[in-house]
Amino acid sequence: MSTAIVRIVSELRSIVAAWRREGLRVAVVPTMGALHEGHLSLVRAALAKADRVIVTLFVNPKQFNNADDLAAYPRTEHDDAAKLASVGAHILYAPDAADMYPQGFATQVSVAGVSEGLCGAFRPGHFDGVATVVTKLLLQSGADLAFFGEKDFQQLHVVRRLVRDLDIPIEIIAGPTVREADGLAMSSRNARLSLAERRTAPRLAEILVQTVDRLRSGEAVEGVLSEARQKILTAGFSNVEYLELRANDDLAPIGRLDRPARLLVAAWLGQTRLIDNVEVTLPKCAAAVLQQAAA
Ligand code: PAJ
Repeated sequence: MSTAIVRIVSELRSIVAAWRREGLRVAVVPTMGALHEGHLSLVRAALAKADRVIVTLFVNPKQFNNADDLAAYPRTEHDDAAKLASVGAHILYAPDAADMYPQGFATQVSVAGVSEGLCGAFRPGHFDGVATVVTKLLLQSGADLAFFGEKDFQQLHVVRRLVRDLDIPIEIIAGPTVREADGLAMSSRNARLSLAERRTAPRLAEILVQTVDRLRSGEAVEGVLSEARQKILTAGFSNVEYLELRANDDLAPIGRLDRPARLLVAAWLGQTRLIDNVEVTLPKCAAAVLQQAAA
């Protein structure tokens, strides 16, 4: 099967309207292209839940707070289309920037709370750019379901919030982070790592997992996190932007592991910024005690 490439929103809308008349369920998977297994896992999950799947490809200038980063972002539409055809996606929607943001474009979607801190503190304007483009893509596609990866955990929360706040009639479904065999979270940015950096990169996930074990065994959060931060630097990362424990369901900062949590990190390896996160479930005994206390 080949995947049809659509660039114009009116064309996308008329295809989706025809699908709807047939009673088909439609899913959308927003991406910036340079597709890897992480993206394709979302497309497969979408194909399992919907009759028709639209993958969007748009390198969104509004979410880059650095012009060099935008210029260096890989653009591989031809290969992306071939990968999507091989998994069976129905449409690749790849609009032009001039159509997404025509002259005079003046609207911005800004999500307070969950956008603040973590990546939001280090990438000013980033989540406004993400929220604005995701709102447009969800409304343009008119899909029933939209798929996002847990790899970008804060982004997932931003999207869930804006969909709720703006009453966009779409269900958001999260997919787990897909990793290389050595544990490194897949990312389009991994291609920028030198050979030596690529060997160091999996240490980030390894340290996260070790840190989660220590947190679950009841050690004090602050001490464990400051040792982990040091370990990341010793492994060869040049800077740890943040390493934080947050509540899994609303990203609230937490100083004790007394609710299901997430450990999130952003660190620089040479010229490349890597992010990752892992779930921190409560140890069984703590969960039972907390349940009893709540009863
Ligand atoms: P992009 O980085 O291309 O990612 C597209 C989707 O793939 C996101 O939902 C992201 O979380 C998911 N993804 C990336 N790497 C993954 C991995 N290793 N495992 C599982 N899922 C993974 O995120 C964006 O684009 C943009 O911000 C976007 C939402 C498209 C708005 O421009």
